[in-house]
Amino acid sequence: MKISVIGAGNVGSLTAMRLVQEGLGDVVLIDVVNGLAHGKALDLEDARALLKYNYNIKGSQDIADIKDSGLVIITAGLARKPGMTREELLAKNSSILKDICLKIKELAKSAIVLVVTNPLDIMTYYALKATGFKSNKVFGMGVSLDSARFTNIISQELNIPNTDIEAMVIGSHGEGMLPLAGLAKVKGVPLDEFIDEEKSAALVKRTIGRGAEIVANLGTGSAFFAPSAAILAITRAIVKDEKKTIPVCAYLNGEYGIKDSCIGVPCRLGKNGIDAIIELDLEKQLKDKLVICASSVRESAQQLGL
Ligand SMILES: NC(=O)c1ccc[n+]([C@@H]2O[C@H](COP(=O)([O-])OP(=O)(O)OC[C@H]3O[C@@H](n4cnc5c(N)ncnc54)[C@H](O)[C@@H]3O)[C@@H](O)[C@H]2O)c1
Repeated sequence: MKISVIGAGNVGSLTAMRLVQEGLGDVVLIDVVNGLAHGKALDLEDARALLKYNYNIKGSQDIADIKDSGLVIITAGLARKPGMTREELLAKNSSILKDICLKIKELAKSAIVLVVTNPLDIMTYYALKATGFKSNKVFGMGVSLDSARFTNIISQELNIPNTDIEAMVIGSHGEGMLPLAGLAKVKGVPLDEFIDEEKSAALVKRTIGRGAEIVANLGTGSAFFAPSAAILAITRAIVKDEKKTIPVCAYLNGEYGIKDSCIGVPCRLGKNGIDAIIELDLEKQLKDKLVICASSVRESAQQLGL
């Protein structure tokens, strides 16, 4: 599959590296900054001799090079700065996305579009409307990263390997995220058999603040190692038609009682993008919170004139 990664910054370039190293497709890296994507692609190309693996990577400033891609991953845009909320990124990143989406619509009509740019849920909704593609083909990476963070934080608290823990986050990719502590399990055993409610609430709080914790420590820019790993997992599910359930920001039209909004929920992913939206049996309080998250995405979308 031809995979285009738009934005050759921290997340985009690391994503390109992970994708080619796993042999998931021929990768095209695009950035508006003169020479940036080309330079990074040349560097990635040189690594082939050392890795003893021949992958194809091309870097370009010309978005026309995304032509006929099967998957387009959008990481172009500004990253959050310390003290800046995702919502504050809205105005700047939506104008960047607008041009990109029009080009995708023109040049890669059958592509699946994976949105990564923040504020994620609104940008996903925006990309869906701007491309006019079917909703199974446009979705966002956010809550799978949050789920990985939640898993890791539980793993450290219990001193149990990440691989033994099943934990999911749904909702918005932001302060309104919903780490599902009540559904988390350690080798099939409910998390609440290992920790009390107070400790569980602390782990949820730490998960919600994890992105900001990383931003504050980095000083400049935001996370990229785990985000690119989250993109890799979604890409693998698509390219290998894995039918794996991964939480992504998906367009809901009735599911969870939500209409015409994009929010993070578990979805079965395969070669056509979203094969199915999985409806979890949520307690009322969580369901209400999910509805609130989805409404706030709609409100932001209205601010953008959608
Ligand atoms: N969804 C998530 O879980 C998640 C995780 C991490 C980062 N992000 C978001 O991903 C985005 C990128 O993060 P980053 O750390 O790579 O930032 P970065 O600043 O390192 O890279 C962004 C790149 O986008 C490029 N760009 C800007 N406009 C463009 C355009 N029109 N066409 C092509 N390229 C363009 C910039 O030149 C820059 O190189 C940010 O919005 C960030 O908040 C999302």
